[in-house]
Amino acid sequence: MTGSRLQTALRRPNAQTLAELLRLPDFGPIYQEADRIRREQVGDTVHLRAILEFSNICRRRCRYCGLNAENTAAPRYRMREDEILSTARQAAEAGYRTLVMQSGEDPYYTPERLGGLIREIRKTGMTVTVSCGEMEESAYAHLRDCGADRYLLKHETADPQLYSRLHPCGTLEHRVDCLRTLKRLGYETGGGFMVGLPGQTLETIGQDLLLLRDIPCDMAGIGPFIAHPRTPLKDSPSGSAELTRRAVALARLLLPKAHLPATTALGVLNAGVKNDVFSCGANVVMRKVTPDAYKKKYDIYPAALPPTEIGSGRRELEEQIRALGRIPE
Ligand code: 5AD
Repeated sequence: MTGSRLQTALRRPNAQTLAELLRLPDFGPIYQEADRIRREQVGDTVHLRAILEFSNICRRRCRYCGLNAENTAAPRYRMREDEILSTARQAAEAGYRTLVMQSGEDPYYTPERLGGLIREIRKTGMTVTVSCGEMEESAYAHLRDCGADRYLLKHETADPQLYSRLHPCGTLEHRVDCLRTLKRLGYETGGGFMVGLPGQTLETIGQDLLLLRDIPCDMAGIGPFIAHPRTPLKDSPSGSAELTRRAVALARLLLPKAHLPATTALGVLNAGVKNDVFSCGANVVMRKVTPDAYKKKYDIYPAALPPTEIGSGRRELEEQIRALGRIPE
């Protein structure tokens, strides 16, 4: 498929046309086009983000997630505020310019407590991205007043029935409302979804991509589903790395200026593909700075994780990005 035919197909895409593209035997030309658009629209910089997973306590029961509240076998932790701040300072010293603060929906970390942390972390000069789930509009507004610039809240799947089956605690409609609220409050808003969820079709992925564009998301995390042994979905096959990469490439074509991370889950499935995805439209990577004692307990999906070395880990990542001919920032 030529670049101009592709542009025609994408001018008024619907879920079916996107599914047809995802099904193409040879995706090479679309990867090339995604790489070209990425270079033209957002350049060669790869943004390095530090992610701090400060609590794995969660009140929700998402059926794919190892941290769902019904998994009573999961050892729980909640970092103290001084531990969070000292880790954040180390990330700033290592050269990170953004800290992603992620947790389960932990009732201890109220908007007031989170806001206080954000104010302190902003003093390091870092930008703060929050990824702590669904909240009331007033809570999102408070965090924004405290200096949060970005919010990550994946929609997970754009199929409302599938969404309800996977999330006994919520609806797609409410999730999308939260995303629109975040946009309205002036957040750079990150959505995203999983590839390979049981019951998902290629048309669903088409809907996922259209929803990202409709909101419109400034960032989108697209990663494969990975079965966790202590969840109701333990026997479901994991998502395909190739299909994930195809979805990232189409996201670049539909949202030319978006921040698209090479997701951690993609690296877990296949270390090669995580780097490869940088040539298919991705321009962001997140690195865990969560202290080792906690990191292995942040068990969303099974993963073998290298030890956290905030300074040397960052330098190693910079080298990997440079080796791909890109510029780490
Ligand atoms: N496989 C892949 N990704 C998962 N997430 C949660 N559980 C899994 C899983 N089993 C992702 C969700 C969530 C993010 C924090 O982790 O997309 O938004």
